[in-house]
Parts: sequence; structure tokens; C-alpha cells
Amino acid sequence: MTETLHLPQGASRAEIYRALLPQIESLIAEVDDLIANLANIAAVLKQAFGFHWVGFYRTTAPDLLTLGPFQGPLACVTIAFDKGVCGAAARRRQTLIVPDVDAFPGHIACSSLSRSEIVVPLVQEGETRLVLDIDSDKPDDFSAVDQDWLERIVALIARRHFP
Ligand code: SME
Repeated sequence: MTETLHLPQGASRAEIYRALLPQIESLIAEVDDLIANLANIAAVLKQAFGFHWVGFYRTTAPDLLTLGPFQGPLACVTIAFDKGVCGAAARRRQTLIVPDVDAFPGHIACSSLSRSEIVVPLVQEGETRLVLDIDSDKPDDFSAVDQDWLERIVALIARRHFP
């Protein structure tokens, strides 16, 4: 069981993601429980980057997301697919980067400190099964680099739990 995270010092965000990916892969390879794996992935991303909020929402009923494992402040428990950034990403079945949450119509402000957000859906057989949601307290904090690596992390979860 891998219990210590190895993070390169003074590295770029891309280099940190590169170092994290195989560690996440081996972490979740050893564990069969989805919730346990989502909890550890949220912890890894929080520890590596210090994001304001990192967590998952799972699709628990048609067009409804329910809060899953997360790290950060208290969060809203349910989000319909027609609400918020999470709902939009789940509905469109594609990653959304929101550089300024105040400019996104319908953004759900779980925390007033959130300034930018990225949401990556896990899509299996045309259905969104869960989303990875990350909020930053810095404006415009997410780029194509985050999208690329976070989609790879979500692909690891998909291979492990939604084959
Ligand atoms: N801001 C999200 C809601 C979830 S919280 O950020 C944890 C949204 O608009 O969907």
C-alpha cells in the first residue's frame, strides 16, 4: 500500500501531475472500493496543489449529482444536471473550465472564496457517472494542462471502476 506521496520539489504543475499519475494508478489498483479511491484521489490533489476545494459528485439518479468524497469547505449535497458548472459538465459530458465563476450563469457558490473552477466528467456508455470538481481561490487558475492531466486521472478511475 502506497501511503506516502512523492512530489517533485519546485516543479511545474505539469511535472507534478506527471509524477502523480502513476502513484494514483498504483493507489487505486490495490483498492476495490470506489468511494475509498475517490477519497484518496481528492486527498492527493489537495495535498499536491492546495486547491481550495477538490472533490467528486456522483450521478445517483437520472440527471442528479450527489456529493461524494471531497477535501475542503462544506459543499452543496445535490446538484441537478441543469444547475451550476457541475451540472453543465455532466449534461454536456465534457470538461468545463470556468476562469471567472462570477461570469458563469448559474454558478453555484458553495464557497464565496472560489474564483475559478474546472469540472471533468467520467462518461461511460454515453452517461455521466461522476464528475471531478476543483475550485481555486485564484482567478483563471486552470488551463489545458489541468484539463489534460485531470482527464487522464478520471480515465484511470473509469478503467478501474466503470469498465
Ligand atoms: N460550484 C459548483 C458547485 C459545487 S462546489 O463548487 C463544491 C457548481 O457551480 O456546480
